Amino acid sequence: METRSTQAFLNAGATVQPRPKTLPQQYFVSQEFFARELEKIFATNWVLVGHQTQLAEPGDYFLAEVNGESLVVAKDQRSTIRAFYNVCRHRGARLCEEQSGHASAIRCPYHAWTYALDGRLLGAPHMDETPGFNKTEYPLKPARLGLWEGFIFLNLEDASTERGGYMSLEKWFEPLDGKFSRWNLAGLRAAKRIEYDVHANWKLMFQNYSECYHCLGVHPELSKISPYDSAENDLTDGPFLGGFMRIASGKSLTMSGNACALPVGDFGDDDFKFVFYYSIFPNMLLSLHPDYAMVHQLQPQSPQRTLILCDWFFNPEAFKRSDFDPNDAIKFWDMVNKQDWHVCELSQQGIASRAYESGPYSARESIPAAWDDYYLRQVS
Ligand code: FES
Ligand SMILES: [Fe+2]
Repeated sequence: METRSTQAFLNAGATVQPRPKTLPQQYFVSQEFFARELEKIFATNWVLVGHQTQLAEPGDYFLAEVNGESLVVAKDQRSTIRAFYNVCRHRGARLCEEQSGHASAIRCPYHAWTYALDGRLLGAPHMDETPGFNKTEYPLKPARLGLWEGFIFLNLEDASTERGGYMSLEKWFEPLDGKFSRWNLAGLRAAKRIEYDVHANWKLMFQNYSECYHCLGVHPELSKISPYDSAENDLTDGPFLGGFMRIASGKSLTMSGNACALPVGDFGDDDFKFVFYYSIFPNMLLSLHPDYAMVHQLQPQSPQRTLILCDWFFNPEAFKRSDFDPNDAIKFWDMVNKQDWHVCELSQQGIASRAYESGPYSARESIPAAWDDYYLRQVS
C-alpha cells in the first residue's frame, strides 16, 4: 500500500510533463523526498565506495558510508576484500573510528570483543561464564561487496527482505563489458584524493557533469583545451550515460596543457584526441583521459548537502619517472571542480526560491534529461 508521502512523491513526478524540463523544487529541498531517495536508490543499488588500491595489504581497511550506514571495508588475511557493518554484536557500539588504517583484527573499544577481518568473533572476554553463549552465533554483519574494474561497490539490499529488485554486480555492469578495458582501471594507482563539501543536492552534480552547455562561461581554461561544443554521446539511456569530447591537438587537460604522466593504456594516436566522461548511477562520475583517470564519488548528506571524494589515478609505472607531475592534472581539475560546485550551489539557492519552476532543458542537455528519466523510474 502506498503511503501518503509515496503518493506525494509520485504526484510531484507526474508534474514533470511535458519533458524535458528540470525536476520540480521538492526533489532538491524536501527531507521527505531525500529519505525516499536513500531508501529506493542508495539502499538497493551498487554504490561506489573506493578502489582496490586503497587496500594494498591484508589487514588494510577503510570506512565507507552508504545510505547513512557506516561500513568497514577490509582486506582479510586471505586477501579477500569484505565489508561489514561497523556495529558490534555485543551492545552495538561503533567498532572503528579511524577513516582508514591497518589492523590484524577488529577490537571493540567498549568491552573488547574482537573480530577477525573475515567477520568471525574471535574473543569475547568473560562470555564463557554466560550459559549458552556461542561465539559462532555473533559474527559481524556482512554487506554485499563487488569489484568492477578495480572499483569497490557495496549493495545494502537485504537478502532476507528481497523484493525481487536485487541484481548481481556482474549483471548490473554487463552493458559496459569491455568498454573501459583499454584504460586498465583495475591496475591504476591513486595519487591524490580531495574531499569537497558542497552545499547542493547530489542530483545537481550529475546534471552539471552531464552537459558542457555551461563550459564556455564557467570553465574558460577547460574550454581552451577541450572545445565545449565538441561533445558527443555514446551512452544515452539508462544507468550509464555519457560520451566524449575532443582534446586540442597535442594537449592534455592539465595546468600546463601538456601530458603529466605515461599513458594509462596502450593507446593508438586517436585515443590521445579524446576525453571520456561517464556517469554511473547512482554515485560515480568516471572521467577517462589519456594520461590519467579521475573519479568522483558522491555521498549525499541531506537534500542540500553532498560530500564528494575526488580521486586521481595514474599508470603505476609513471610514479617511477622523474617527469611524473600528477599535480599538473590535480590542480587543473581542482580548479574546474570548484567552478562546477560553485554553479551547483548557485542552482541549489535559486531552486529553493518560491520563484523557481521547472525550466526547459536545451538540446545540449539531453544527457541530464536522460539521467532524470532513469532517476524517476528508480524512485517511483
Ligand atoms: S559493545 Fe562491543 S564489546 Fe560491548
Ligand atoms: Fe563543468
